[in-house]
Amino acid sequence: MTHSDIRFPSRIGTPLSPSATRVMLLGCGELGKEVIIALQRLGVEVIGVDRYADAPGMQVAHRSHVINMTDADALQELIEKEQPHIVVPEIEAIATQRLMELEAAGTVRVTPTARAAWLTMNREGIRRLAAEELGLPTSPYRFAGSLQQLQAAIDGSDGQPPIGFPCIVKPVMSSSGKGQSKLDSQADVASAWDYAASAGRVDAGLVIVEGFIDFDYEITLLTVRARGADASIQTAFCEPIGHVQVSGDYVESWQPHPMSQLALEKARDIALKVTGALGGAGIFGVELFVKGDQVWFSEVSPRPHDTGMVTMATQYQNEFELHARAILGLPIDVTLRNPGASAVIYGGMEATGIAFEGVQDALLTDPGVDVRLFGKPESFVKRRMGVALARHDNVETARTLAKAAAAKVKPVK
Ligand SMILES: Nc1ncnc2c1ncn2[C@@H]1O[C@H](COP(=O)(O)OP(=O)(O)OP(=O)(O)O)[C@@H](O)[C@H]1O
Ligand SMILES: [Mg+2]
Repeated sequence: MTHSDIRFPSRIGTPLSPSATRVMLLGCGELGKEVIIALQRLGVEVIGVDRYADAPGMQVAHRSHVINMTDADALQELIEKEQPHIVVPEIEAIATQRLMELEAAGTVRVTPTARAAWLTMNREGIRRLAAEELGLPTSPYRFAGSLQQLQAAIDGSDGQPPIGFPCIVKPVMSSSGKGQSKLDSQADVASAWDYAASAGRVDAGLVIVEGFIDFDYEITLLTVRARGADASIQTAFCEPIGHVQVSGDYVESWQPHPMSQLALEKARDIALKVTGALGGAGIFGVELFVKGDQVWFSEVSPRPHDTGMVTMATQYQNEFELHARAILGLPIDVTLRNPGASAVIYGGMEATGIAFEGVQDALLTDPGVDVRLFGKPESFVKRRMGVALARHDNVETARTLAKAAAAKVKPVK
């Protein structure tokens, strides 16, 4: 793809003036907040959008709007009113089909592309692209629209190879492990269906059932498509990020994660192909499972990845800066500065306007420790409210430091 295919800004104007380069973030959580900060540093005018007031990113944007982003008309109205040069989807639950229409009409440029946002918001779209069109290795899978279809996919009575046990059931529209369960035996099938059907996002009717991959470890391979010196789009890979997921939600991550040369080559090849098929410019979080030298594609985010928050402690340009630069057509550098780790700080309670004690203690854990509090107006027991970061020459020590620091930050009423 050449430069002329993507309408990169040829200059950056002055925010809040007629020359401004305007970027609209759809989603203002902790990831959006960091992208906004990176854009602010480049003198971009940023408009934050989310479904609730005072979201983290709104607190650092030039201005913000509260709308239901799955409402296509409301989204279009706001885009027409604000006239951003670039729209950056930061969450999955948005009216991506309308974004495709607006992009096709030339109304706005969506990063990396509106089609990428549309394909990845639904597990069916991205899985069929990866496995059936690109031929990438994935877990065996099937889609089911009823308990009967789910049962038939698992036991093979639909005439196809049985998925069997153990397996994983997920709503096709969900993230952060919502509605997801692992099934070990026949006794788990009905409850897994009910749980998935109750937790899915837009069309709750469809689930994916995947054969369980008994991996040694899983990684996020942050992959950046950015304009090179010759104006063509080039692909660069950050060092692999290892992570631990509990109930489908990330609790800690570290970088780099050691891999065999062969596994690393396969991982990069998968990432190159899937991000190439999604196209555009920006950062992608490619999720992969690894066992020995075998690598499976799991899923991909066409945006910064939660496990990639570790890059705030490890890279010269963190994943948010890389995204900001890539979408503006600027050069990027994915070099690791030092190993490091991140550990999530949860709310631990249901309340609004909570406070955090122990931040000083946490920072005293080690000079290489840092803490980010997201400023979310409302806390839930399992809501991510902050993250502890640690850098250390030894990645295992960094993990220990990050977890120790996170444990010292205490949410209080
Ligand atoms: N087929 C599988 N075999 C083994 N483990 C799996 C499989 N599918 C998912 N998992 C585990 O569950 C985690 C969450 O799955 P997945 O990434 O598909 O869901 P998600 O809801 O999109 O999560 P997130 O939004 O946090 O990335 C994975 O990171 C992995 O640890
Ligand atoms: Mg995932």
